[in-house]
Amino acid sequence: VKVLTVVGARPQFVKMAPVSRALAEAGVKETVVHTGQHYDEGMSGIFFRELGIREPDHNLGVGSGPHGAQTAAMLKAIEELLLKNRPDVLLVYGDTNSTLAGGLAAVKLHVPVAHVEAGPRNRDMRMPEEVNRILVDHLSTWLFAPTRHGAENLAQEGIRTGVHVVGDVMVDSMHQSLERAQRDSRILQRLELQAGRYVLATIHRADNTDDRRRLEAILDGLGNCGMPVVFPIHPRTRKAMAAGGIKTSGDLRLIDPVGYLDMLMLEGSAKAIVTDSGGVQKEAYLSGVPCITVQETTGWPETVEAGWNRLVGANAHAIKDLVQNFRPDTQQLRDAFGPPGASKKIVDTLLKDVQP
Ligand code: UD1
Ligand code: UDP
Repeated sequence: VKVLTVVGARPQFVKMAPVSRALAEAGVKETVVHTGQHYDEGMSGIFFRELGIREPDHNLGVGSGPHGAQTAAMLKAIEELLLKNRPDVLLVYGDTNSTLAGGLAAVKLHVPVAHVEAGPRNRDMRMPEEVNRILVDHLSTWLFAPTRHGAENLAQEGIRTGVHVVGDVMVDSMHQSLERAQRDSRILQRLELQAGRYVLATIHRADNTDDRRRLEAILDGLGNCGMPVVFPIHPRTRKAMAAGGIKTSGDLRLIDPVGYLDMLMLEGSAKAIVTDSGGVQKEAYLSGVPCITVQETTGWPETVEAGWNRLVGANAHAIKDLVQNFRPDTQQLRDAFGPPGASKKIVDTLLKDVQP
């Protein structure tokens, strides 16, 4: 069985690591295509090294740009590769433009698509991620949904075949890296942080970075929350702040994006996490750390229903209040995304279904 994997953005490197490992263990030949959507060392290279993913076989070097131009450049290059390579399965993750380009190129050439992280929905078609995941779910042959809720979303859209609720591969990534992070990461010492005495923040969603009022309100809430805030800043957000001349207040510590091992440590020891990242909401939940999501909706309602995540939008007062006062019921189980093992289930399903 020949699998061709298309990835390109930071969260996809985290998600692919355990699946690539499971493919290798099953003796499957995997060709890895990196679209080049993310390209800074701290947004890309470090993940390949830390997570032991081998160098991509192809880097398309597409880089940044408007959605149409970026997606089109990927589509063209992936199509050329597929015509030469003819895999049995094209594997994509999540909801970025790289996911869409991979899926679309493949389905037109009748290469069946496997979508890992199928099913989450925000019901907001102004989010590029919502558009991408809906389109990719509708063109996929295998839809690997992390949760039952995701499968229900798919059923509501009429997708009932090919759906497999397997749990979340991010649980596997975390499970495979946590011990190493605890042993090797020095980030808490380097930043002189004490466990439980700082807030971790990440912001990169388009609606927050491209709207000055929202970005300022979030930074205001963080700056006034009465605690040191560690803020590994996405290049998109750094550029938006520089372009708008936006200043920060309080004890807000802007640092470059960190690698996955450092991130796991920063998450696990934080008093609270303030984020608009889908992956970080899940990791907060898995780490048992209260999460304050600066969005109005989430693709991961499981975290809210379990009491570990609050959606506050870009509300400075709510951020400040919840950092100080949000204490989830720690007795609540945190197993919404399943036990480790999603990656193996994905590979087993593909091996069962695919005739090379
Ligand atoms: C993308 C995904 C988003 C995902 C996020 C993960 C889409 C539509 N969006 O958003 O779903 O949550 O990745 O982080 O696919 N930049 C750099 N260096 C890099 C990468 C980006 O400087 O290595 C800057 C560029 O100015 C670029 C901007 O960040 O224009 C945005 O990058 P892009 O990949 O278009 O979208 P993200 O906001 O990263
Ligand atoms: N992440 C990281 N370093 C950072 C910020 C995030 O390693 O500085 C990891 C994080 O732990 C998670 C993934 O990147 O595994 C989430 O990616 P991101 O927030 O960029 O995208 P999203 O999940 O919102 O699509």
